[in-house]
Amino acid sequence: MSTAPALLVLSGVSKSFGGVQAVAALDMEVRQGEVLGLIGPNGAGKTTVFNLVSGIQQPTSGSIRLAGAEIAGLRPDQVCRRGIARTFQTASFLPGMSVRENVELAAAFRDPAKIRARRTRDVVADALAKTELTDVADQPAELVNVSQQKRLEIARAIATEPLLLMTDEIVAGLNPSETDDLLRILVGLNREGMTLVFVEHDVRAVLSVSQRLIVLAQGKLLAEGDPRTVARSPDVIRVYLGSRYAGNQ
Ligand SMILES: Nc1ncnc2c1ncn2[C@@H]1O[C@H](COP(=O)(O)OP(=O)(O)OP(=O)(O)O)[C@@H](O)[C@H]1O
Ligand SMILES: [Mg+2]
Repeated sequence: MSTAPALLVLSGVSKSFGGVQAVAALDMEVRQGEVLGLIGPNGAGKTTVFNLVSGIQQPTSGSIRLAGAEIAGLRPDQVCRRGIARTFQTASFLPGMSVRENVELAAAFRDPAKIRARRTRDVVADALAKTELTDVADQPAELVNVSQQKRLEIARAIATEPLLLMTDEIVAGLNPSETDDLLRILVGLNREGMTLVFVEHDVRAVLSVSQRLIVLAQGKLLAEGDPRTVARSPDVIRVYLGSRYAGNQ
């Protein structure tokens, strides 16, 4: 298990929507360079955690620190410039634009220092290559297949040159071989130094890429640690994995 320093630290983070406590005094950290799997039942708060970290929603209370600096309260574009990118549960590309133009638009959200350091054209070409989209770069985004659209989500995220990439159910709807292709791409990004948080219901996918696992339930941390150990924990099997994983290792 990784013992690298923390890149992102959530302390006492809560978010309520009216009477619904989506995230409840959550303490968790993401370590530099790791692939962290984040799982839990529907409604556990996984997407809300991403929304809070990425500035799309503001926490009701608590602190979110990136490399020691408070980011809770920042706008999404500010969080993006600090080095956090995420994908969405539903595709977020712009129709009517090509695959490449979608990635160019994302690259424009980079930190000004990064824009000065590396030409947009090179960053876009690199993001397309790493997501194996170079061959379809000039096609309209809405006409490429689902697997390519998922990779476009990743290309747009990495075109912002993030330190941390958070993916939300990125393999949902893909067949096993498309899933393996996408996981290979994510593992490649991690090997080059990108820290990943991977939210997924596909337990096989989670266990195949995660170096550490956190299980959320009702907005709280239920378990964390070595993925296979956590996946065997009776609490985790009872609350979440029973029907998905038991007897399947
Ligand atoms: N904008 C919102 N307004 C009201 N309630 C919300 C809102 N967003 C999320 N919730 C509620 O907060 C809780 C956590 O939702 P969230 O989407 O974070 O769960 P999740 O773990 O991502 O679930 P899933 O696996 O189904 O994607 C749920 O009860 C959900 O209904
Ligand atoms: Mg979700």
